[in-house]
Amino acid sequence: MSAHGQSTSSSQKNHSTPASRRALSSFLLLLAAATGLEAGGHNATADAGIPIKITNSCPATIWPALATQEGRGPTTHGFELAPKSSRELSVSQDWQGRVWARTNCSFNADGTAASDGGRQACDTGDCDGVLDCLVTGNPPATLFEIALQSGANKTNSFYDISLVDGYNLPLSLTHLPDPRLPIPPNLTNPSCIATPPFSSALSENANATYPTPRTQTQDLTRWCPFPLLLQPPAKPGGGAFPLPDDHIPRPPFSPCLSPCAATGSDSDCCTGSHSTASTCSPGLYSHNAKRVCPDAYSFAYDDGKSTFSIPSGGGWEVTFCPEGPSSDILGTFGEELGVVAGGVVTEEVWRVAREGKKGGVEGIAAAGGKGGREGSLGALVVVVCVWVLFW
Ligand SMILES: *[C@@H]1O[C@H](CO)[C@@H](O)[C@H](O)[C@H]1NC(C)=O
Ligand SMILES: *[C@@H]1O[C@H](CO)[C@@H](O)[C@H](O)[C@H]1NC(C)=O
Ligand SMILES: *[C@@H]1O[C@H](CO)[C@@H](O)[C@H](O)[C@H]1NC(C)=O
Ligand SMILES: *[C@@H]1O[C@H](CO)[C@@H](O)[C@H](O)[C@H]1NC(C)=O
Ligand SMILES: *[C@@H]1O[C@H](CO)[C@@H](O)[C@H](O)[C@H]1NC(C)=O
Repeated sequence: MSAHGQSTSSSQKNHSTPASRRALSSFLLLLAAATGLEAGGHNATADAGIPIKITNSCPATIWPALATQEGRGPTTHGFELAPKSSRELSVSQDWQGRVWARTNCSFNADGTAASDGGRQACDTGDCDGVLDCLVTGNPPATLFEIALQSGANKTNSFYDISLVDGYNLPLSLTHLPDPRLPIPPNLTNPSCIATPPFSSALSENANATYPTPRTQTQDLTRWCPFPLLLQPPAKPGGGAFPLPDDHIPRPPFSPCLSPCAATGSDSDCCTGSHSTASTCSPGLYSHNAKRVCPDAYSFAYDDGKSTFSIPSGGGWEVTFCPEGPSSDILGTFGEELGVVAGGVVTEEVWRVAREGKKGGVEGIAAAGGKGGREGSLGALVVVVCVWVLFW
């Protein structure tokens, strides 16, 4: 482990390096930066007890990373993880932070960047070229963000999957329920899978009794606007037989930059004169991201349709490269989540989670992410506003 004394406020550092490709972090961390929270940093001594399990279902090695915003972080903020393996960490009950994965890394034995003088060790998600991260990662990276004890009375966990810093790998979340307050798993476990399948295995966070609402099967090879591809594919025949860019075949692993990371403009980053919800609007990237991952943040002010809030408790598993279509939970169960956020999981919530809104999976599939979204928004917006006020 390296340089544990020097934990910095990662998002502040992040925002003060305009020349780098680091983008605006998503709303959760912006809030924290605005309120001047210091990163909790690396504290290797204590086991605080909330499990964070990280699983690699990708066919390749990945290098998961964490950033601690508040509370006591895990004993490591970055490590190598072989395919089909997991690592269990634990954080304090008031932890706030994010988890992402780095790809295509090359480190020296001491955990620094392998290339001489190089500050970058990984193609995506790199954190200044060190294995054990002290800062947040470079875009593009799919993020899991969580504040374990938040809201007015610090009673709720607020969490999201964010594509605000771009997309590198599919990610799913599995809440490991607190036995004192079980919650139907198809309300708590979102997934964002915007990559064509790497294999044909079944979804890791699937539960046959409480199936997660899913998006319709769709083409996942073209949602990233061509100019945002981190590694744009070569034009076939050296460009001699021109295809529209969007029709050039892309590999399954095809990281997508956020517009902010690509252009750095205020309108793409929701900064400057575009720094409020009414002056920052979603562009093509956000629209496409929302289509492939309806439960994920697609731009900084996407809160009502992207933030989950459940009573604090239990632990979390973060799986990279889960299979199956993305979830569409907030659009389906927003109303029920509003009830759960209030601290009670009623019989009615269990019934709806079991039987679906219209008494079956077909009803849900037919609703296709429309039904419930509007109704649900109110509850979530209230929750988010309360949260914003008290951060
Ligand atoms: C690290 O954890 C120990 C034990 O809980 C605590 O006393 C100490 O203040 C912590 N240090 C930091 C920097 O959080
Ligand atoms: C980069 O990482 C991805 C995801 O782990 C993997 O699919 C891809 O094959 C890697 N590419 C190279 C050139 O190693
Ligand atoms: C916070 O706790 C107080 C006192 O128990 C209660 O009146 C209030 O409704 C709670 N607020 C929320 C948002 O739960
Ligand atoms: C499905 O979820 C229910 C409710 O949380 C739980 O009791 C059950 O063990 C889960 N089934 C599997 C296979 O995980
Ligand atoms: C949640 O699980 C129940 C129980 O199987 C299922 O009937 C319901 O359709 C699921 N919800 C959705 C939206 O898929």
